Amino acid sequence: MTMIQVRVRSIAWEAEGILSFELVDPQGGRLPAFEAGAHIDVRMPGGVSRRYSLCNVPGETRFWRIAVLRTPESRGGSRTMHEKLRPGDLIEVSEPHNFFALDETAERTVLVAGGIGITPLLAMVHRLQQLGRRFELHYCTRNAARTAFASELAPLLADGVVRIHHDNGDPKQGLDLAALLREPRRGTHVYYCGPAGFMNAAKAATAHWTAGTVHFEYFGAEPLAAPETSGESTMEVRLAKSGRTIPIEPAQTLLQALRAAGVDCESSCEAGVCGTCLTPYSAGDIEHNDLILNDDERRTEVLVCCARVRQGPVVLDI
Ligand code: FES
Repeated sequence: MTMIQVRVRSIAWEAEGILSFELVDPQGGRLPAFEAGAHIDVRMPGGVSRRYSLCNVPGETRFWRIAVLRTPESRGGSRTMHEKLRPGDLIEVSEPHNFFALDETAERTVLVAGGIGITPLLAMVHRLQQLGRRFELHYCTRNAARTAFASELAPLLADGVVRIHHDNGDPKQGLDLAALLREPRRGTHVYYCGPAGFMNAAKAATAHWTAGTVHFEYFGAEPLAAPETSGESTMEVRLAKSGRTIPIEPAQTLLQALRAAGVDCESSCEAGVCGTCLTPYSAGDIEHNDLILNDDERRTEVLVCCARVRQGPVVLDI
């Protein structure tokens, strides 16, 4: 991953628990352009990276904007961003990557955001406006105090293109996703992003939509639970192309085992949500723990950053 240095130009309060950060080139130059749905990885002290969607107008190269929700269970990412970063600080970030690209040719686009999941969808709103495309945004938040970017969305709210739904902490009072997405419409694409419960509801509500018309992005994953294994204490991973065999412990992810053996392996989120570490495999019983592969894909591919071996040996095609 190519890293670049950027300066935090400003930090703004957007809503309860949410700050936005504007990032600029330290020498006053231009930053790489980005597309709607793209994110950057921000390197935290200690080398851990966190992924944040770019939420200003796509194509903007004078600055990037990200927004960060401070989560109580933060493992250092959002807490560091909120408590340690100050305007003027220099930080290391990746160039933009996009695993949540917008189909700009769709006749109509339905965007559904839950909480901080608004960030990639806000960039899509800006892009769809630039293109003059038909779209609607449903933005689900707890209440007005937790609604980031409300003033930016206000003109579209007045036009009825954006609807904000508050649930006051009770999902039953919130937007009825099943009703909203009941009828798949020809030429319509759906995009959704939000916290785990919201993602499950949106996934169920779009299960009957045609493949390729529903797009989503997870922004976090739970820490892995204790491994489900056959009881073997050490298992094996065979690397088909190099002919190597490496050991793996039941609690280790494939990525950890590969790295421990000195095998080079690209990764980004290390939480099974971005697809960077996708690796083909031809044999083995794998405990997939990612949030993006479907059952078909899991038969031949694995996201090694979060997968473990249930029963060895596993044969990776690398
Ligand atoms: Fe992101 Fe594995 S590194 S899915």
